[in-house]
Amino acid sequence: MSEALLQVEHLKKYFPLGRGLKKNASFVRAVDDVSLTIAPGETLGLVGESGSGKTTLAQMILGLLPPTEGTITLDGMDIHDRSCRKEFHRSIGAVFQDPASSLNPRTTVYRSLERPLALNGYSAADARELIRETAEKVNLGWELLERFPHELSGGQQQRVSIARAIMLKPKLLVLDEPTSALDVSVQAQTLNELLDLQQRFGLAYLFITHNLSVVRYMSDRICVMYGGRIMELGETEEVYHRHVHPYTLSLLSSVPPLHPRQRDRKKYLLTGDMPSLIGELKGCRFASRCPFAREACREAEPPMRDLGKGHLAACAFAGELEFEKG
Ligand SMILES: Nc1ncnc2c1ncn2[C@@H]1O[C@H](COP(=O)(O)OP(=O)(O)OP(=O)(O)O)[C@@H](O)[C@H]1O
Ligand code: SF4
Ligand SMILES: [Mg+2]
Repeated sequence: MSEALLQVEHLKKYFPLGRGLKKNASFVRAVDDVSLTIAPGETLGLVGESGSGKTTLAQMILGLLPPTEGTITLDGMDIHDRSCRKEFHRSIGAVFQDPASSLNPRTTVYRSLERPLALNGYSAADARELIRETAEKVNLGWELLERFPHELSGGQQQRVSIARAIMLKPKLLVLDEPTSALDVSVQAQTLNELLDLQQRFGLAYLFITHNLSVVRYMSDRICVMYGGRIMELGETEEVYHRHVHPYTLSLLSSVPPLHPRQRDRKKYLLTGDMPSLIGELKGCRFASRCPFAREACREAEPPMRDLGKGHLAACAFAGELEFEKG
């Protein structure tokens, strides 16, 4: 693999509860020792059920939340290095789930796009040129720019968010559920436009979604999170066809099979809720819901096993468990 564009190492976010992060105080281990990389032009899909820590991880990468521990390096720049802070932020863009809430309802789309450029020292004329160029890239007609956000459809609003995110020519886009709030037909169109943008401009994506079909369509590699930790990580087809982690198996079991012959395959559906992430945690985080759990799983945190070709899994029995794959 080519050299990493983004490198995240041993990243943690512990949210303090009550009296703060003092000795014996409680905290939520929202992200707990996550390490990953994204290569230039690559899409890393991030999946995991609600509360697994996806948004918290994304917010730290975007510099919107300070990590409790760990490092984030983008294109050789350390997020903590004040001397390259501006360049770091220019190299990364973000698109969130709800486009309406990320746009200022009281100003026109044009003004929303112009503001970050003015803050970056662009003259009005240069900003106008860049906005024209960017609107073209995302198929946003010029006449839409003079409207207010509520005068646009959801798909058009999301195109404005994408335009704003790519305007300063970042190398990485963090997309947190970018199409979940859109109509199904608009979703497909937006995903294809994102793929097209990526191909034309060599952007790398961290693509967060609950939708396992969407993540497969979009991603080169997939990272599966549960309880603040990475459970499995690998190339997309490897994770789909040769997954070794029981949590990945449960997630994929919930996807309806494409072929009728697979309809009677064994299902490993998830029951119960994710355990609390508060306080000290012992053993495998998935043990309370894992159909393969043994006593040893509750004793010690399973190490990350390397199965070759960049395929990693945090299960003490990775590669040894027998289960039917879809
Ligand atoms: N500001 C906060 N203070 C305390 N706990 C928080 C805070 N933000 C998030 N959490 C907790 O951290 C955990 C991870 O939340 P996060 O929003 O990262 O999950 P997610 O994977 O993005 O979920 P979803 O799929 O629902 O968006 C959850 O248990 C959540 O309750
Ligand atoms: S370590 Fe044990 S409990 Fe955890 S996923 Fe593997 S088999 Fe299940
Ligand atoms: Mg989230």
